[in-house]
Amino acid sequence: MSDDERTFVMVKPDGVQRGLIGEIVSRFEERGLKLVGGKFMQIDDELAHEHYGEHADKPFFDGLVDFITSGPVFAMVWEGADATRQVRSMVGETDPAESAPGTIRGDFGLDLGRNVIHASDHEDEGANEREIDLFFDDEELLDYERIDAPWLYE
Ligand code: TYD
Ligand code: MG
Repeated sequence: MSDDERTFVMVKPDGVQRGLIGEIVSRFEERGLKLVGGKFMQIDDELAHEHYGEHADKPFFDGLVDFITSGPVFAMVWEGADATRQVRSMVGETDPAESAPGTIRGDFGLDLGRNVIHASDHEDEGANEREIDLFFDDEELLDYERIDAPWLYE
């Protein structure tokens, strides 16, 4: 297992409006994951369709596109051992109502369509790389060492 796996995470418009950016960033920082990219941005219709393309034929698709384009989001790339799977376990289930307390969706959400955060799916091979490429240029992702790395990895 490599300690440089990267994964894509985004605080959705509801999380931004509810002032949860700092709380969410803190959780990943404290876990030991390394922030390598971050962007406060507004998603346009085209990017929304591309990002959620896998759901284009679902009944919730139009509402999902409207919601994700409705206000600013905070997009991030986090790096660390098994990052995609570890982040998903911290995020919880898709439906906040099914998410355990202690997870982000389980602590901050109640409704499926307002679930605060997006994270790449670890069960969808390559989703992390695809989503990082969609939202970030290479030069926006920074290479550096966190000084606590020797205390995080054996
Ligand atoms: P999905 O990729 O299945 O979930 P996740 O975000 O956990 O990877 O779905 C994308 C988003 O679509 C999800 O975060 C919330 C929304 N959604 C609905 O509004 N209704 C639904 O029935 C589903 C499955 C998802
Ligand atoms: Mg998904």
